[in-house]
Amino acid sequence: MDRIRIEGGRRLVGEVSVSGSKNAALPQMVVGLLANGVSTLRNVPDLRDVQTMAGVLESLGASVAMQDGRVTVDARNFSNTEAPYDMVRKMRASVYVLGPMLARLKRAKVSLPGGCAIGPRPIDLHLRGFEALGATISIDGGYVIADGANMKGGEMTLEGPQGSSVGATINVLMAASLTPGRTIIRGAAKEPEVSEVVRMINLMGGRVNGSDSTTLEIEGVETLKPIVYSTIPDRIEAGTFLLAAAITGGDVMVRGARADHMNALLDKMIQAGCEIEVLPDGVRARRAGKVLPTSIRTLPYPGFPTDMQAQFMALLCLADGESIVTEGVYSERFIHVAELMRMGANIEMGRGEARVRGVPRLTGAPVMASDLRASAALVIAGLAAEGATEILRVYHIDRGYERIDEKLAGIGAVIARERALPGQTG
Ligand code: UD1
Repeated sequence: MDRIRIEGGRRLVGEVSVSGSKNAALPQMVVGLLANGVSTLRNVPDLRDVQTMAGVLESLGASVAMQDGRVTVDARNFSNTEAPYDMVRKMRASVYVLGPMLARLKRAKVSLPGGCAIGPRPIDLHLRGFEALGATISIDGGYVIADGANMKGGEMTLEGPQGSSVGATINVLMAASLTPGRTIIRGAAKEPEVSEVVRMINLMGGRVNGSDSTTLEIEGVETLKPIVYSTIPDRIEAGTFLLAAAITGGDVMVRGARADHMNALLDKMIQAGCEIEVLPDGVRARRAGKVLPTSIRTLPYPGFPTDMQAQFMALLCLADGESIVTEGVYSERFIHVAELMRMGANIEMGRGEARVRGVPRLTGAPVMASDLRASAALVIAGLAAEGATEILRVYHIDRGYERIDEKLAGIGAVIARERALPGQTG
């Protein structure tokens, strides 16, 4: 397995471009299944998760081609009603195929996704939504078995104990867009990635109202047309670069970043002592003074994103005082804490929250990537640490960041990927 080695302590300066959004592209590839034709997505990042999704769609009979950020999904032979464990276990977002399978094939057998490093991630809300549309659902042998023969519009609330669900909203929305009658989803997620799926479906001939609000009204249509659509910039990747600039006391413009998708993060960065400049074609972050202690609580959009929590915590490790980091979405999402402490951070864990006492410096160490955003936090910490940081299990980063090592090197990081030799582990 590859490793990333970083010589810390270099100020990052310059300009870096943001890639297309992983969390928008994944469901949008699946939206392609809703039209009996060939849809094209542009600005899709070249990531492992995108390749995994292509494999999932192909296992259902679709053809997927990927080149230079363009992904075409030919759904004319979409006919297989089973998504096997071997596919779904690689990536939770595979469960998105349930919606189109129910809507177009009326039947679906999809493996339940397993556990995941950031804690339990049930899909009960997805299933509740399909049941509200009249689908019959059972669980057998680790699979969801769903029958959508009698589906029609229905009303539902898709909120769980932590609030709205991005995945459940998108999944049910996809099914409802081709289900006869009127569906009302209350407690819908408002993340930009959800609004983008709404926009895409509407451009395909769908009738969905209420994007950006917590109630979605969907009038089912008989067919949707194939489409050419561009994926929005990745707000999490952009935020990661802004924090990399901040932690190194640098000055970086992230070209293509959309400030309107990043308000909660930008507000907290300002509170933490960063200067933020919103430009017509991107966002610039710099920091000259101290990192100020700043408490954050993650929440569904427009709250502070859970996907930025680990990276922000890396910055807070160097703050001039104490900050509290509270997880309101995944209460167990703190696996980066132990690794940050190996780099000299002073963090005390409580229930669903971490007390981060700033230290004057972090020191490089060998550390282990354990999930996508936790790994990004270790990269950020490594950029500011004294000495060398070596990050193992880099494949987690590659799931969600396109060429992160090259992009950071382009703004002055001393970072290198060491390709694994055959047979080498770790
Ligand atoms: C998506 C993102 C992920 C991000 C998360 C929260 C993708 C591919 N992934 O994941 O990067 O961290 O949103 O912003 O877009 N829940 C239930 N029952 C369900 C579904 C969810 O209880 O059926 C809970 C989850 O455990 C979690 C909360 O709801 O506590 C939010 O999860 P959700 O928004 O569904 O996350 P994902 O769509 O899986």
